[in-house]
Amino acid sequence: MQTVDLAHASRLLNHGPTVLVTSVHAGRRNVMAAAWSMPVEFTPPRVAVVIDKSTWTRELVTASGTLALCIPCRAQADLTYAVGSVSGRDDAVRAAGDKFACFGLACVEGPVLGLPLVAGCLAWLEARVLAEPHAEQAYDTFFVEVVSAQADERVFRSGRWQLDDAPEALRPIHHLGGGVFATSGATVRAGELGRGTA
Ligand SMILES: Cc1cc2nc3c(=O)[nH]c(=O)nc-3n(C[C@H](O)[C@H](O)[C@H](O)COP(=O)(O)O)c2cc1C
Repeated sequence: MQTVDLAHASRLLNHGPTVLVTSVHAGRRNVMAAAWSMPVEFTPPRVAVVIDKSTWTRELVTASGTLALCIPCRAQADLTYAVGSVSGRDDAVRAAGDKFACFGLACVEGPVLGLPLVAGCLAWLEARVLAEPHAEQAYDTFFVEVVSAQADERVFRSGRWQLDDAPEALRPIHHLGGGVFATSGATVRAGELGRGTA
């Protein structure tokens, strides 16, 4: 085992699917990439997601009290990295209108909250922000409650991901750092572990 620089320690854990956080407020919409999200409760479904203070997403999410998490696939790796590498506040992006227009992303309207969802994603969740000002301020972490969820049945059926027969282009992507992603691979079913007698 080699010592890992503490600056890279989070990368040892950071293998959840990268998501696209979409938001809209007062007619202005935005999208950014987020590698740091995780479920924190089954019922009601709640999720934590880190949204840095520097982002325009943070401003829109705070103002609207809502956000959506879209789960991109391998075919969308370039767009995921692109929307995570430039701010919607950027002059060049604003000149095009917003990041959706700038990068030619088609949108679907969220079924419950009307949030802009990125077409072609494998799944999306619309959510309402739960008031946790301390977590937001201290850790940039937003706790949200999911109010709608839809998924592509080619890859998510019977309540879970079914990736064994999924085409490579339709696999979720996991950010390893610096624009390098891994895709979810074949599943493995755990068997029973034999127990020794000491
Ligand atoms: C793959 C990837 C993952 C990222 N993960 C996060 C994250 O979890 N939280 C965060 O605040 N920023 C994250 N970022 C950075 C934001 O996406 C980036 O700051 C973005 O430009 C913010 O856009 P906005 O200002 O339009 O909201 C990530 C970027 C990339 C490329």
